[in-house]
Amino acid sequence: MNNKHPAFGFSTRAIHHGYAPQDHHGALVPPIYLSATFAFPTAEYGAACFAGEESGHFYTRISNPTLALLEARMATLENGEAAIAFSSGMGAIAATFWTLLRPGDEVIVSQTVYGCTYALLHHGISEFGIKVRHVDLTDLAALQAALSPATRMIYCETPANPTLQLVDIAVIAALAHQQPNITVVVDNTYCTPYLQRPLDLGADVVVHSATKYLSGHGDITAGIAVSNQALAHRIRLQGLKDLTGAVMSPQDAALLMRGLKTLALRMDRHCSNAQAVAEALQAHPAVAWVTYPGLRSFPQYELAARQMRQSGGMIAFELKGGIDTGRRFMNALQLFTRAVSLGDAESLAQHPASMTHSTYTPEERAQHGISEGLVRLSVGLEDVADLLADVRQALAQCMRIAPRHTRTAEPALK
Ligand SMILES: Cc1ncc(COP(=O)(O)O)c(C=O)c1O
Repeated sequence: MNNKHPAFGFSTRAIHHGYAPQDHHGALVPPIYLSATFAFPTAEYGAACFAGEESGHFYTRISNPTLALLEARMATLENGEAAIAFSSGMGAIAATFWTLLRPGDEVIVSQTVYGCTYALLHHGISEFGIKVRHVDLTDLAALQAALSPATRMIYCETPANPTLQLVDIAVIAALAHQQPNITVVVDNTYCTPYLQRPLDLGADVVVHSATKYLSGHGDITAGIAVSNQALAHRIRLQGLKDLTGAVMSPQDAALLMRGLKTLALRMDRHCSNAQAVAEALQAHPAVAWVTYPGLRSFPQYELAARQMRQSGGMIAFELKGGIDTGRRFMNALQLFTRAVSLGDAESLAQHPASMTHSTYTPEERAQHGISEGLVRLSVGLEDVADLLADVRQALAQCMRIAPRHTRTAEPALK
């Protein structure tokens, strides 16, 4: 496919970008280059590769043709100039932090972030002289007050894992860029570029746990960073090559490219299923509160509608009776699987306080808005009627009433 056709739509680029079968013996699916190293035609060429004067592949920790194809696709889908593939989301995040931050710098972080990102900030980079300040980024006065001449990065998740709080990326980026040398980094894992494109809104770097929706099938761990050429080059040569070595394997890149082909279709289904589950939860008397960007009751409903194409596949809620009832609910689920991670075809349920966000102390969770009773759902791709029936029977058990048969009829096939 001719890469000079930016007019091609999202799915067309997710399926074709950067690959022409006739250049590969007609193979419809790109070959996987398993080679760790690449032959130099001459010693001089090898030296030129190392000097950065030649752009050929020479060692897979730095570049590889299969990884390069995936990176080109991720760059076009995020509307960035270049992408870097990592062996995990934490690899991408760690490499970005270690490349862009130095002792004495300050990083402003949104109120709530994934548990291991929180641990990396508070038990990793902060121990190397980098100051971490959490700020409620919905409060611009608080952000203004936190900015200092030492601020080098604003880092956020939007929606945040697990609270789903949003950050207005365009507003934050405009404010950050009034000061030189501040890089705005957005973790776009919950949305994927199909639902939200932070670089278009002014962010400088997008990071992903590609373990989640991007790959979509729960069979790899992977990470991606996307940015402009200059920043991506630095993150590759410092953060990836030297500081973490967290390179993605070519086999995983092939699985990830397979996942990308159906990303738009899958996200549409995740979103419509999650909307139905969120509405069912909200209507149920056992539920204390539900947070989902597609509900009118969502405090940032207008921002969600403006910033995100659809509302995503993740729900946070709490039952009356808190975590004891929440555990009863999770143990009663029959179709949802009790498991961490998210974005898989299978619907998943987990308890952040004791699982993904157990890296926070209870006091820290309270400060960061993660209630002890919060249950997180990753709504999968199953038939919505079956998901609703499972949620309703589990809720009924929490209320100690006999489960009713609530499976609604499927629409007739046309
Ligand atoms: C929002 C978010 N960012 C980053 C990560 C880390 O990604 P990985 O598990 O691929 O290292 C996760 C993992 O759950 C996540 O939910």
